[in-house]
Amino acid sequence: MELKILILPGDGIGTEVTIEAVKVLREVSARFGHQLKLSEGLLGGTAIHQTGTPFPDETRRLALEADATLMGAVGLPEFDNAPPELRPERGLLGIRKALEVFANLRPVRSYRTLLDASPLKNHLADGADMVIVRELTGGLYYGTPRGIFGTGAEERAVNTMVYTRPEIERVSHVAFQLAAKRRKKVTSVDKSNVLENSQLWRKVVCEVAMGYPEVALDHMLVDNCAMQLVLNPKRFDVLLTENLFGDILSDEGAVLTGSIGMLPSASIGNKRPSGAFTGLYEPVHGSAPDIAGQGKANPFGAVGSVAAMLEYSFGLTEEAGAIYRAMESVLDSGHVTADLKGSSNTGQVGDAVCDSLATVVAAK
Ligand code: IPM
Ligand code: MG
Repeated sequence: MELKILILPGDGIGTEVTIEAVKVLREVSARFGHQLKLSEGLLGGTAIHQTGTPFPDETRRLALEADATLMGAVGLPEFDNAPPELRPERGLLGIRKALEVFANLRPVRSYRTLLDASPLKNHLADGADMVIVRELTGGLYYGTPRGIFGTGAEERAVNTMVYTRPEIERVSHVAFQLAAKRRKKVTSVDKSNVLENSQLWRKVVCEVAMGYPEVALDHMLVDNCAMQLVLNPKRFDVLLTENLFGDILSDEGAVLTGSIGMLPSASIGNKRPSGAFTGLYEPVHGSAPDIAGQGKANPFGAVGSVAAMLEYSFGLTEEAGAIYRAMESVLDSGHVTADLKGSSNTGQVGDAVCDSLATVVAAK
């Protein structure tokens, strides 16, 4: 198969973990006989430095041309006080919207060998296995009107939380279809005791649920959900929620597994004429400028994002499975980065995954 993939390393540790992810991508493609066609583009702070904008037209063109996009992370502290349109994050929001990847899948899963790295007591974290499905191209992140208006005592800032029925429907279908292949349970998270926006969300999710009688649906208010995630994470199978709630809850979910560095994410849009789903794949973690350039970054989130890409965009489940098994054997071997209490550097972990892939593939 020919895999046409755009690589966007981005900023900070994004570039470091992407190097390892690409190593693994090359290794798995070689071993399974796929032909890689890689292109590389600029996004975020590096793009602002080189082109004056966080999401250059050239990057947009490359992304629309590719079958899938693999991203590192964006964000640099020097832009902290820049206007919103000149911040690295705007590049990320721009590419999500350009590709219309409306469903962001963030799997949270505990690994036995990492239980001691989790901030939760072992018996709470052990066995947790959920996927957070976060709506990604609507809500407060994109709603208009938005902006800061007026001056002095009249100065006011506005953001708009807006969802249309079709936007809620399409992401709900993704959640229910996913749950149907898992433990058949969707928990929809909203703030319907206060927000009209959440009332529509809840109503539409209930309607979509009727089409999936085999999947159980429950609803949870977002504040309670934040609490249940640490009290009883095992109760969740598929957690469906809107953009901002999903942003917050997925960081909380991320640490249940021991380190946010572990988590991959897949952002999926509509089917392309080729039959593949449009997809943008990125680790959940950010650019972590404080540890950039030191070889400390955990590449598992990025490597897992490669596996998710092979699975969701290209339907290559065997290849994805081989990566997951290789990652697990590296975790078991203890060749991990400092966030997981190991002493390996980023490159060594990437190499270890590639070595382990060879063994995994040979054994199949
Ligand atoms: C994430 C990040 C982004 C978001 C930022 C960098 C804009 O936190 O992917 O979770 O808020 O969506
Ligand atoms: Mg976030």
